[in-house]
Amino acid sequence: MAVERTLSIVKPDGVQKDLIGEVCRRFEQGGLHIVGIKMLHLTQEQAKGFYVVHKERPFYPDLVNYMTSGPVIVQVLEGEDAIQKNREIMGATNPAEADPGTIRADFAASIEENVVHGSDGSDTATQEISFFFDKDEICARTR
Ligand code: CMP
Repeated sequence: MAVERTLSIVKPDGVQKDLIGEVCRRFEQGGLHIVGIKMLHLTQEQAKGFYVVHKERPFYPDLVNYMTSGPVIVQVLEGEDAIQKNREIMGATNPAEADPGTIRADFAASIEENVVHGSDGSDTATQEISFFFDKDEICARTR
């Protein structure tokens, strides 16, 4: 296993439900270290750009509206096998299919409002991290 970095978002429904601490606790207990974090209220342009891969999907307009409906927490998580580990902690995109004990099984209302986002692969993680973070906004753990 290699040390990786991945992007996580606590989405507007997660922030509204005051789940920021709970989500971060689960990452930290799962061995993922937060090396960058900030709160943002995404613009339509940012949300459209971030999810451009879904541009042709029927849910894209609703996804953009949802992601701009309130503030989000964007964070960079670092750890062994961080991309897959984050996905395991989040659970499946559709909470009805998410394993018990995952964030989405425990807290997500629907496939549309599913509390968290996480990068789905190595290339995506690199691209998604650079979408939100400058290099000097990510702090290597020195202790
Ligand atoms: P996320 O992991 O952030 O990736 C794309 C998002 O689109 C997804 O989580 C959901 O919030 C949203 N979405 C809405 N409908 C669907 C759908 N039918 N399939 C996949 N994602 C969907």
